[in-house]
Order: sequence, then structure tokens, then C-alpha cells
Amino acid sequence: MSSNIKKQGEQVSMKFVTLVSMVAALGGLLFGFDTAVVSGAIGFMKERFDLDELQVGWAVSSLIIGCIVGAASSGVLSEKFGRKNILITAAILFIIGSVGSAIPDTFNGYIIARIIGGVGIGITSTLCPLYNAEIAPAQYRGRLVALNQLATVTGIFLVYFINLWISGLGDDAWDVSTAWRWMFGFGILPGVLFLVLLFFVPESPRWLIKQGRAEESLPILLRIHGETLARQEVLDIKESFEQDNGSIRQLFSPALRLALIVGVGLAILQQVTGINAIMYYAPEIFKQTGAGTNAALIQTILVGLINFLFTILAIWLIDKVGRKALLLVGSSVMTICLAVIGIAFQTGQPSGPLVLIFILLYVAAFAVSLGPVVWVIMSEIFPNRIRGKATALASMALWAADYVVSQAFPPMLASAGPAITFWIFGIMALITFIFTWRVIPETKNKSLEEIESLWSSNKA
Ligand code: BGC
Repeated sequence: MSSNIKKQGEQVSMKFVTLVSMVAALGGLLFGFDTAVVSGAIGFMKERFDLDELQVGWAVSSLIIGCIVGAASSGVLSEKFGRKNILITAAILFIIGSVGSAIPDTFNGYIIARIIGGVGIGITSTLCPLYNAEIAPAQYRGRLVALNQLATVTGIFLVYFINLWISGLGDDAWDVSTAWRWMFGFGILPGVLFLVLLFFVPESPRWLIKQGRAEESLPILLRIHGETLARQEVLDIKESFEQDNGSIRQLFSPALRLALIVGVGLAILQQVTGINAIMYYAPEIFKQTGAGTNAALIQTILVGLINFLFTILAIWLIDKVGRKALLLVGSSVMTICLAVIGIAFQTGQPSGPLVLIFILLYVAAFAVSLGPVVWVIMSEIFPNRIRGKATALASMALWAADYVVSQAFPPMLASAGPAITFWIFGIMALITFIFTWRVIPETKNKSLEEIESLWSSNKA
């Protein structure tokens, strides 16, 4: 803990750290862009390839299958080859995916390209927050990792406008033959920008030390922390590597079991509380409340805007009030909103404004809590030695849960109806509240090495 005292009053180079973190956060932009782009393209593709309902689902979820694979492999690969090299690989996969989904003349060609792009997204969704956590000074870590989430919601918001703009460039026939190709192809721009900028960021100092390359990590830590603290950090990080052997089996040891439960549990809860039912299907939900196509579109823009604004609020709050407080407030507001939305549908005559207001409030509550906080916690709770693999495991669980929810939502709406569906999400939000209250430790202002010792003290 002596290092903690030394940390007080140390100068940190926020300019350098912020620039580097912003580059990594661009990975989040690709994540948001690529998950949301299909929503604008799917209608045209359905006509172009004459797709049935099952194929429509596959056109949306094939990317997520790629994400699961990417998240799963990102741990082992980034431990072996370094965070930076694997991020560069991911950017290349993303570009291949964007080009490949824009040019095919067969549905299967498109699917293969989406899966390849998905692998890139799975990798960046795991490694970008992890990289930011490893480069950040403790007192700003939450904020810098949450930048990634801001980039994700910016990507979602942006792609919505880009889709709208592209579809307005030609007539209906052009939309069916060409517009969707431009929508996917547009992803090449952020992909190339990400790839080029990655060459200018340093490797993660923590990863370098793990490789026995402490001398290379020192100049990076010096730029981040200044003289005294940088040397202390090298010692702290080295020591943290000496304490465990880094095998995945260690994650299941009593000392770390709780970290695993927190990471994987939160990853699944982030998805089963229904956010992507709203993100991917918002216009359909609004239409069920009686909105016309145009009104549904405008309401969807509002969802994107609220998501964006409240993510900014989260970034401002996360290192001040802490992760736990945000999660508690967010999950309780989400529970109430989901209950009310369910009641509105149950009464048989859901009033448009009521459902809209509570969906917006629900999205705001998610954006200020589970959205950024889950990715932040996932990137900081695991010990240095196994952080790559462990974060990958949690991220894989998140994508798998996303796959289940996005596949199950349309049939659930059709068979059980919207009221039951939203109540199920509401129960999950309530479980999130209880889980946070009982299980999650506060990690704000603690260095990654201090969080590590938290788990060992828990064991005692
Ligand atoms: C989630 C995504 C979701 C996004 C919405 C992220 O934290 O992981 O699945 O689409 O938030 O803003």
C-alpha cells in the first residue's frame, strides 16, 4: 500500500494517456458501427436476396457468431503476441469484413464476410478497454476505459444517420441493388483510420513487463506517471506477476472465483436486461405502440441521442461516485421502467408517449450504468497475469448472451407477447441490482495491483 501513498501528488501526463486511449477507443466506434449498420441494410438485402425470416435473423446474428470467436481467441493471442499486434490484426479483419460484405453477389458470400468482420469486432471489444485499463493511471482509469463505450454509442448513433443519408441518395431500386453495399462499405473509413493510428500507440507496459521486457516498459510508464511513480509501478507490476502463475485454472481457484463470478455475471446481466432488444428492434417496438414508420424512425434517433448523452454523464461520474453506485441506481431505474413498459403493453392499449418516455428513461439508465461500467469492471478486476484470458472469457459470455437475446426477442414477442417479454427483462434488472449490492466490490481509485490484492484478502 506504500505505493498508494506515493501516488498522491504525482503528476500524470493526461495528454499522452488521453490521446493513446482515444486511439484504442476507436475500436469501440467500429464495434458500434458494425453492430448497428445492419439495421439499415437488412430491409434492402431481404429484397435483394429474397430472404426468409430465418435468413434475416442469420444476416443480423452472423456477425455476433464472429464476435464470440474473436472475444474467445483475443485472450490467448494477446497474451502471446501483445495487445497492439492483435489490435492491428483485428483492424485488418474489420476492413476485410467491410469490403467483403459490400461486394458479394451471394448471400453466403455476405455471411462469410460478416463473420470475418465479427472476429475483428470481438477482438477489439475485448482488447480496447483492456488496453486502456492497462495504460491508465488508477484515478482516471474508469473514465478512460469508458471512453470506449462513448465511442461505441457514437458509432451506433453515427451509422444511423449514415444509413439514412445513403438510402436517400437513390431511388428504391438503387437502394435494393446498391445502397446496402455502401452502408457496409462505409466501415472501411473508420477501419483504415484505426489501423493507421494503431501504429503510433505504444504496447501495453503491463504486457511488456510480463514478457520480461521491463526496460521497454519504463519509458512508457515514465511518460504516463513521471519519474518516481513509474519506477514504483514497474516494481508493483513485477511483484503482481510473481504472485500467481497465470494459468486459466487459477481463475477457478477460491481466491479468484469471486472475480470470475463478478466479471462473467455482469457480462451476462448487461445483455439479458434487454438493451439490444431496444437497440436492434426499437422501430418495431414503437410501431407496436401505434407509431407510423416516420415517427418510429424519429423516436429511434431519440434513443440513440439519449444513449450518447447519458454515456457522457457516466464518464464524468464513474471515477467520482464509483462503479457500484452507478450500477445500483441504473439497475433500479431500469427495473422500474421495464415493469411500467410491461404494464403499458399488458393493458392492451399501450399509449405511445408513455412507452416512449419509459424506453428513453430505461436507455438513459443503462447508458449511465451497465453500458460503460460493465466493460470497465471487466477490464480491471482480473490479476495482471491472467487479465487477457479472463477478460476474454467474460467478453465471450457477453457476446453469447447478446446472441441469445437478439435471436430470441422476435419469437418471444410473437409467442409470449411484449408484456411478458419486458417483465422478464425487468426481473433480470432486479437480479442485477441484488447481485451488485451483494457481490460487487468498489474498484474506483484503486490501482490494478491493489484490486488484485482485494481478491486475496477476500479469501482470508
Ligand atoms: C453493449 C452493447 C450495446 C451497447 C449499447 C454496450 O455496452 O455491450 O451490446 O449495444 O452498449 O449502447
